[in-house]
Amino acid sequence: MHKIQDFKCVQSLNRLRDCILSSCLEDLECDSSISLSNLHYLFDSDHINAIRLKAFHKLNQLNWESLLSIGCLEDIFPLLGQDLLIQKKLNLSIQMPDDSTSVLPAHSDCSSGDSPFELVIWIPLTDAYSTNSMFLLDEARSTIFYESIRHGGTSPLLSPAPNDFLELKYGQYLIFPPSLIHGNVVNLTHTTRVSLNVRVKSVFSPYLPKPVPDRMYGAYYKEWHISKLFRWNMGVMKSFV
Ligand SMILES: [Fe+2]
Repeated sequence: MHKIQDFKCVQSLNRLRDCILSSCLEDLECDSSISLSNLHYLFDSDHINAIRLKAFHKLNQLNWESLLSIGCLEDIFPLLGQDLLIQKKLNLSIQMPDDSTSVLPAHSDCSSGDSPFELVIWIPLTDAYSTNSMFLLDEARSTIFYESIRHGGTSPLLSPAPNDFLELKYGQYLIFPPSLIHGNVVNLTHTTRVSLNVRVKSVFSPYLPKPVPDRMYGAYYKEWHISKLFRWNMGVMKSFV
């Protein structure tokens, strides 16, 4: 159910990457040839979250929706249609080697109120491999999680196997349903992984049976791409209120 695609515009991808890198290097006197995959040479795990939050704010001042439109939209249309909402903020993750503070155990985003009908766009800005990457469990093992919840149990402990970690090169990105169990572990590689993630959803798809207000249009999503036909029909609808 997941897809790895090529980001369609390297200049747009570079712009996102360079925004983060310049934010991280601001106020530092260091070799300008440093890359995101070497951030662990500059920061320790006590400070990386503050660095991440500063870069997150800089990133969200960009017109990132347009950069993602150029890079991803043509891959999303066949999956979700032409009328799309997108999460209001573009999220940033930094996984430095041996940093246990950034671990996100196996989970479904639906447990925190996300619609199972949304898709996650996950864009690594460094090569992602082995334990520096995210893991994604298949449908069979994700089903164990939902069966347990359905029968009133607690979330089962699901551990990733080595081949559950996704391998992507810079220039590729991942689309996956956040209902598949996913997460990350302590990065045991020697390189930092930096990645972006954002959720997209058709305006026509449902929320959870008990919708969570802060996971709905307005609070959580905004318009990303709305077709001319949809806007026309919304006008027609007003005539029949
Ligand atoms: Fe998640």
